[in-house]
Amino acid sequence: MKVLVTGSAGFIGTHVSRALLGDGFEVTGYDQKESSEPGIESIVGDFLDLEALTGAVEGHDVIVHIGAIGDVYLAATNPELAASVNVTGSTNIALAAEAAGARVVYASTWEVYGEPAYEPVDEKHPCEPDHPYNITKLAGERMLIAADRLRDVPVIALRLGTAYGLGMRPNSVFEIFIEKARKGEPITIQGDGSQGRQFTHARDIARAFVAAARSDVRGIALNVVSPEMISIKQLADIVTERFPTEVTYGQPRPGDVPPSYVSAARIEEKLGWKTEVSFEEGMAELLSADRG
Ligand SMILES: NC(=O)c1ccc[n+]([C@@H]2O[C@H](COP(=O)([O-])OP(=O)(O)OC[C@H]3O[C@@H](n4cnc5c(N)ncnc54)[C@H](O)[C@@H]3O)[C@@H](O)[C@H]2O)c1
Repeated sequence: MKVLVTGSAGFIGTHVSRALLGDGFEVTGYDQKESSEPGIESIVGDFLDLEALTGAVEGHDVIVHIGAIGDVYLAATNPELAASVNVTGSTNIALAAEAAGARVVYASTWEVYGEPAYEPVDEKHPCEPDHPYNITKLAGERMLIAADRLRDVPVIALRLGTAYGLGMRPNSVFEIFIEKARKGEPITIQGDGSQGRQFTHARDIARAFVAAARSDVRGIALNVVSPEMISIKQLADIVTERFPTEVTYGQPRPGDVPPSYVSAARIEEKLGWKTEVSFEEGMAELLSADRG
């Protein structure tokens, strides 16, 4: 089976491309940047260019649409860019998939729910996003699910938990803490540190994409989150245990989505997916990685 992965040069796209290759897919990467993963064919292209995208998608059975403005802070400062890449871009994916007769697996986010009305948050929970990032990610998801209904393009959306693992963006809290602690500089927790996240390892996320690409489940969104809720204080403790340094506290970050406990029961039922990498293992790997 041939799969085209958008965003293949990014953090999650690299892990997903590798997992798809390992599962026997022929993988084409489609990104504005060259994809470095060995074994995949890399096309440097923009999915806002519908003609180029449609040409690239031809002959593929599946599109895994991961490319986006995935940086929450960039989306806040450039909402017009987030709207165009995340909404028009996803609309283009639906049209290119229709032309090729391909199935789509979309990288959505747990942040589409907004403030929790009840917990655990399942897929029936109302979606009330309130930030240019999660608003545009939900709009992209809805355009694709509409194409499933109206244009018979099989679509499945995966609402990913906050991801971590090797290759994360340098402005992630993990990278900031580890880099500072390694140099013996103080690390600053924004807020009181009690806020938690179900940090989900990129390899577990990648396995969910493989399962979704292989399945014929369609027309729905599924949560892909780890059951472990980890506070920022716990994260800082793990980092400073390995690289002892001072921990200070600062103002909470504006725009941070409040924590909520999200359930992954439905994806376990539909695709047999559950996490395999514990937070302890994932952190041990990150903390011992060779950083040059
Ligand atoms: N990282 C997380 O914690 C997380 C959590 C939930 C959901 N997601 C979603 O997963 C996806 C990937 O996130 P990431 O952290 O790997 O982001 P990333 O920024 O590392 O990767 C995004 C990739 O998309 C590419 N891209 C952007 N616009 C493009 C365009 N117009 N044409 C072609 N390529 C384009 C970029 O070049 C980049 O390589 C995003 O859709 C994001 O919303 C991420």
